[in-house]
Amino acid sequence: MIHNILETIGETPLITIPNSNTADEGRILLKYERFNPGGSIKDRPALYIIQEAERKGLLKPGGTIIESSSGNFGISLAMIGAARGYRVIILADPKTTSANISVLKAFGAEVIIVTEKDDSGSYHKTRITQANKLAQEIPNAYRPDQCFNLLNRETHYKNTAQEIMHACSDKIAVFITAVSTGGQLGGISKYLKTFAPHVHIIGVDAEGSTIFGGEAKSYKIPGVGLSWTPLNLDVNYVDRIFKVKDEHAFIAARSIARHEGILIGPSSGACVMVALKVAQELGPDKQVVCMVADGGDRYLSTLFNDEWMKKQHFSLSVNTEMVRATASKLIPWSENPQGCANYRTDLIKSLNVPKSTLKMNQETVNRSLLNRERSEIID
Ligand SMILES: Cc1ncc(COP(=O)(O)O)c(C=O)c1O
Repeated sequence: MIHNILETIGETPLITIPNSNTADEGRILLKYERFNPGGSIKDRPALYIIQEAERKGLLKPGGTIIESSSGNFGISLAMIGAARGYRVIILADPKTTSANISVLKAFGAEVIIVTEKDDSGSYHKTRITQANKLAQEIPNAYRPDQCFNLLNRETHYKNTAQEIMHACSDKIAVFITAVSTGGQLGGISKYLKTFAPHVHIIGVDAEGSTIFGGEAKSYKIPGVGLSWTPLNLDVNYVDRIFKVKDEHAFIAARSIARHEGILIGPSSGACVMVALKVAQELGPDKQVVCMVADGGDRYLSTLFNDEWMKKQHFSLSVNTEMVRATASKLIPWSENPQGCANYRTDLIKSLNVPKSTLKMNQETVNRSLLNRERSEIID
């Protein structure tokens, strides 16, 4: 018997896509995070960070959780807040879908829409600044701070990566995931490069995001991108970066729904596009693990709305051969991620990152150094 919904987080399946992936190429496995109770991968860091905050006395009974999120992380926190009895305030923005706002409210979260854009034309920095300000004003408040809190990547290092390795062992040849806060890519790449260094690590960003440099422009893939390289990501563990166009992400996601019966969101569509390309370069004994951060049902009014797709001038074709041909033409944005990283430690001060986050980060770094020493001794 399950005593609490939060016990069902994690242990998600790896699923093949036999109608899109041919038998003579690398085998694509989708790590299907929609099966988490909050509907996305963000349940994992949300629970881990809240449990650590409770353990350290940073979040006390009756306390308030305040976070900047336009989607999945906010929903995960709202679910945890409902299950554990915390007040939850989410700073979202005009790009947040009405479906996400409804889910947040269903869990009892209060939603504040931040309308002021930052210097990169997105809402990330203004949302974070306002969340930090509110956290100083409201007594008994806690800021999980998914962007600057290194516990985000530690979650994936400690559980997501180990689940993947346990399921695939030495057959995994390539690991692919999308990037925003860098939690997934940061944690999983570090684990794989430490314990399975043969695995080729690929980060997927949106064309228009400047996590890995380049020209900033607006993009439509939700949940992906940032205007700097996130602290949670150590680019030394990453081999290649692809920047995917909006249309390619959306058509790949629609194709997977139609031909595999699997609902995936646009960020996962972007990852699938890259996985289809990479699989074409490998033999069938090699596995390509591709993260699916959330399900397509979060995007019914965009991804699965033909009128919306037409308005963006995106193709409505779900022809597998067309998607595979598009994938085969992709070229990496970078094969030297170290050379295009865009770290901005000055943001810690200018965005007023809470001292509690910085203190926890120090402890996380100390602990990971200890772990490295331990693993070196054991080896
Ligand atoms: C749908 C989706 N895909 C990918 C990501 C990127 O994950 P991360 O923040 O761990 O880099 C996010 C993050 O919010 C997301 O919501």
